[in-house]
Amino acid sequence: MKKTFAWDIHTRMVHTGTARDLSGLQTLNPPIFQSTNFLYEDVESGTEILLGKKEGYIYSRYSNPTVDALNEAVSDLENGDAALSFSSGLAAIAAVVMAYCRTGDHLVASSLIYGGTYHLFKEQLSRQGIEVTFVDPTDLDGLVESIRPNTRLLYTEPLANPTLVSSDIFKWAVIAHQHHCKLVVDNTFTPPPIFRPLDAGADVVIHSATKYLGGHSDLTGGVVAASREEIEIIRPIMKYYGGIISPFVAWLLLRGLRTLPLRLERQSSNALKIAHFLETHPNVGKVNYAGLPSNPQFDFNRRQFNGYSGMLSFEVKGGFAAAKQVMQHLEIIRFTGSLGDVSSLISHPASTSHVYLTPQERAALGIADGLLRLSVGIEKADDLIHDLQAALEQIPTGT
Ligand SMILES: Cc1ncc(COP(=O)(O)O)c(C=O)c1O
Repeated sequence: MKKTFAWDIHTRMVHTGTARDLSGLQTLNPPIFQSTNFLYEDVESGTEILLGKKEGYIYSRYSNPTVDALNEAVSDLENGDAALSFSSGLAAIAAVVMAYCRTGDHLVASSLIYGGTYHLFKEQLSRQGIEVTFVDPTDLDGLVESIRPNTRLLYTEPLANPTLVSSDIFKWAVIAHQHHCKLVVDNTFTPPPIFRPLDAGADVVIHSATKYLGGHSDLTGGVVAASREEIEIIRPIMKYYGGIISPFVAWLLLRGLRTLPLRLERQSSNALKIAHFLETHPNVGKVNYAGLPSNPQFDFNRRQFNGYSGMLSFEVKGGFAAAKQVMQHLEIIRFTGSLGDVSSLISHPASTSHVYLTPQERAALGIADGLLRLSVGIEKADDLIHDLQAALEQIPTGT
């Protein structure tokens, strides 16, 4: 595609992934190549494609034109050289870990990561003889101390789920490279234009594309972007463990990317208004939002991020019973575990994403029984505030 000047991300996401004329029919949008197989022109060219000596398609577990269009868009989004797509965010995370770690290796991860990733690291990797140490992502001395000679990866999220504590990705990257480790960042909560981990020095960036990238809660997918060299290390895991994305889901995801920057703008401005409202409400204790001046990391957040996403969490006074009251009385905001949707979604981490942890583990992570996580959508902010106000009034005062 002709580009005589640097396009803004809003423009790029509308036009990205369309550069190749995949069908030969000059379509505006890439077609869905819903085919497992591609016919060999002749015996020699089929072999050359298989050996990587010639460009082309053979079998959709290896590569597929619609998926390649998505990969092109994802690497454009994250300023990588290349990208790979997977059947879910966790499939992407597992593939990246498997690409770099083998039995006897060690990984250091932030303790404030998505509950499913925490489980994968704590319970599943140990079955393969890969050890994991969890650290407070804000304690950089502790991070350095936890690194061993067999540490291969450092792993974190820029804004932690669900407490929204920030990791300094620039510093994590310096520490990783001083110790000959790779830094892997799950950027699900802060997609571009909010933050680009590769620009901050990370080696690999991952998204649960199920969330903001897709944006409509109608698909499950995961993506990875990195330099070409790193992608070629990860590609065989995708190919031979087989956690690939389907062409139709790739196409849906590409459509979601068209409006990602626009959605994030609205979700972020809505979330800031809601965070300010919640801070003044008598039935609300702590409010966690990266863009609130009262956030202890606010100055740092202003430097690291370009916007703060639609993710926030808040503690209602009165614990689990009060949290339940609020969720049951909401009219617009829906009660479900996911995030990043066009509609506003609320969840109760202690009974959903972090239910597998012990109460002590949850307390150590700052997940109180009255904590609610809100993924703010694109509705009118005043309507969302009205909805929250009415639900919060259901909590008896003095609880
Ligand atoms: C931050 C984060 N990373 C990864 C995942 C896993 O993604 P998926 O459900 O697409 O496997 C989630 C899911 O909620 C998440 O919130």
